[in-house]
Amino acid sequence: MELTDTILVTGGAGFIGSNFVLDWFQLASGTVVTLDKLTYAGNLNNLKSLKGESRHVFVQGDICDAELFGGLLASHRPRAVIHFAAESHVDRSIKEPGEFVRTNVQGTLNLLEKSRQYWAELNDDGRARFRFLHVSTDEVYGSLGASDAAFTERTPYAPNSPYAASKAGSDHLVRAYFHTYGLPVVTTNCSNNYGPFQFPEKLIPLVLLNALEGKPLPVYGDGMNVRDWLFVADHCAGIRCALEKGKPGETYNIGGRNERTNLEVVTTICDVLDELRPDAAIGPRRSLITYVTDRPGHDRRYAIDATKIQNELGWRPQTLFEQGIRQTVAWYLGNMDWVDDVRSGAYQAWLQVNYGGR
Ligand code: NAD
Ligand code: TYD
Repeated sequence: MELTDTILVTGGAGFIGSNFVLDWFQLASGTVVTLDKLTYAGNLNNLKSLKGESRHVFVQGDICDAELFGGLLASHRPRAVIHFAAESHVDRSIKEPGEFVRTNVQGTLNLLEKSRQYWAELNDDGRARFRFLHVSTDEVYGSLGASDAAFTERTPYAPNSPYAASKAGSDHLVRAYFHTYGLPVVTTNCSNNYGPFQFPEKLIPLVLLNALEGKPLPVYGDGMNVRDWLFVADHCAGIRCALEKGKPGETYNIGGRNERTNLEVVTTICDVLDELRPDAAIGPRRSLITYVTDRPGHDRRYAIDATKIQNELGWRPQTLFEQGIRQTVAWYLGNMDWVDDVRSGAYQAWLQVNYGGR
């Protein structure tokens, strides 16, 4: 069986997946098949600009559905599967871990198994060209102390949240499919992303929208936890690079070289908003910062050492944090219809579950 130039993207209606699909249409050729269940985090409006685009096929479905995924492989004969679909929010994994194991572990296993069967029936050229690219997180490595060296691809796995544990499980299965069956997999582990289309349960869009409306800005614990922020377009470029140049069986860390405490992130957003949307009734938005009960098991610091992908594949982050935050704030201010749409009844219920008792 021969391959086409098509790629199959799971989770392409979510935050990073939709940025990836939209960028792909600007930069690459071939059809994109997007498979997404459209959970609370998936939103077809993210892909609205592709309406009428004959190279885009959207399929609503679950990555745990073996028959559906096998059928998509057989009918589209993609040259690659780019796997973003996951339950992705740590706080939700603390409240309800079961769905994380189902989607992140069972779902990934299903994709691997069907991909292995598909790959085994390709001709020599197809078997050499096919890739299964698994998008994962730096959270699988656990937590760093203030003076520890950043995570490398050799850092031992030590996941601390149910989310991180489920992603670690999926990473191990991906690795095993290379070692056991030779399936040409590539895994990327990236740091915290930010940018357009991020669902406002995550720190940056949540704080941005609360600050815009003069609502309290919930900072967990002492606000001194550190994340290494990566602009989503830079992440998508890293994935494209790993897809085209990455070596099967290898993993690549992707990071922004932008370590910031949560408090620094929140004050930066406040200051940019005060400048772009001053509001006398709200006053300086820093005064909205409200310390709330910490997240259980809250990892103190994440930081990525991206030397391997830089040296071996030539990828580098292009976006400075202050520049990326400005772009992100401007995007949300210009897309309040999108915001109103995603802050539906289900979103309000989540705010009550997560912040009601804090
Ligand atoms: P997201 O929560 O915004 O989107 C996830 C998407 O997957 C949604 O469109 C959702 O509908 C879909 N989905 C969920 N369960 C599904 C299922 N069973 N079948 C089919 N589709 C399903 O997540 P994101 O922030 O875009 O993250 C994408 C990937 O990147 C995830 O694998 C995540 O672990 C990883 N990652 C994210 C970050 C980050 O900062 N956001 C950092 C590191 C790694
Ligand atoms: P988040 O965006 O949930 O990403 P992750 O937990 O995967 O790193 O959170 C980023 C950081 O911000 C993390 O240290 C938790 C913190 N945080 C808050 O202080 N307040 C909030 O309301 C949220 C959602 C997160």
